This record gives sequence, structure tokens and C-alpha cells, in this order.
Amino acid sequence: MVHAVYPGSFDPLHNGHLDIIRRASRIYDRLTVAVLHNPLKDRYLFDVDERVAIVRDVVKNLHGVEVDSFGGLLADYMRRVEATVIVKGLRAISDFEVELQMAHLNRQLNPNVETTFIMTATRWSYVSSTRVKEIARYGADVSKLVPGAAKRKLREHFERTLAG
Ligand code: PNS
Repeated sequence: MVHAVYPGSFDPLHNGHLDIIRRASRIYDRLTVAVLHNPLKDRYLFDVDERVAIVRDVVKNLHGVEVDSFGGLLADYMRRVEATVIVKGLRAISDFEVELQMAHLNRQLNPNVETTFIMTATRWSYVSSTRVKEIARYGADVSKLVPGAAKRKLREHFERTLAG
């Protein structure tokens, strides 16, 4: 049985992430979507519980998909949950350069782990959480870019901050 982990910030999950989750879940027996919890970083719009809640809501009907959060090194987390495959999505060459470096380092830190890449579907290749947040901040519609749970959370957040 192959247990794969799809790690990320997911701040918030967007349709490109969901596409990777769906496709990876068809390849691996068990897929854990692992949301990075980094208390030192205040760069996130949503805290880890909010990001996990969005992912949970979106993947609740997907067979073999679990959601978890992790802190520290991904290589150590992989050992803890006895997973052997890391799944990453690739949108462009710029992603590849960063991911190649991480794949080499993760393999050095945990030689039992292989990183696999899934090319993001063309229709989502221009979507990033950063751009989604930027668009939502100005009140524009992001319903073509993110699942409903993320859209509701973004609207709630920006209505609250703009009102306050
Ligand atoms: O969605 P992101 O922000 O591109 O995801 C990056 C993530 C979470 C996969 C990466 O930052 C990570 O693995 N962080 C955990 C810390 C770690 O293991 N760093 C060394 C990687 S070589």
C-alpha cells in the first residue's frame, strides 16, 4: 500500500490544488493532504485550523484522502506517518526550480522518500493562493478559482477586515 503526502500551505486551497488532490488520489492508495503549521511565520491569511477546515470540507467525499497538519521538517513528518511518496504540483519552470531543490534535500533528509510531480491542469496553471487572495481582497469574484468553502472563508475574512 502506497501512502503519499501532498504538503503545502494551502492559504487557501484553490482549484489547482484540488485538481492535484483528485488526480493523486487515483494513483496512490492513501493520500494525506498535509497543511504546513509554522508558528514562526505570520505570512498566512488563515491560521492552520482554518486552512485545514477548508481542505477537510472540500475533500470530504474523496475516497482515500485524509487531511492533517504538520510542523517542522517534511522529511520527519513522512517518517512519523510512515509515508513514502511526496506529491507536488508543477505549474511552470519557475515551480520546478524550487521543487527540484526541495526534492533533493528531502531525499537526503529521508532516503526512503520519493518526490513525484503532477503537472497542474492547463486551466489552473495560472492560479495561485497569492493571486486569489489579492483578487478577493478587492472584493472581486473568485468563484471560478477556488472551491466554495474557500470562497466563503475569503469573503467572510475580507468583509470583516474591511468593515473593521
Ligand atoms: O504551498 P507551499 O508554501 O509551496 O508549500 C511548501 C512546503 C510546505 C511544501 C514546504 O515549505 C515544506 O515542505 N516545508 C516544511 C519544512 C521543510 O521540510 N523544509 C525543507 C524542505 S527541503
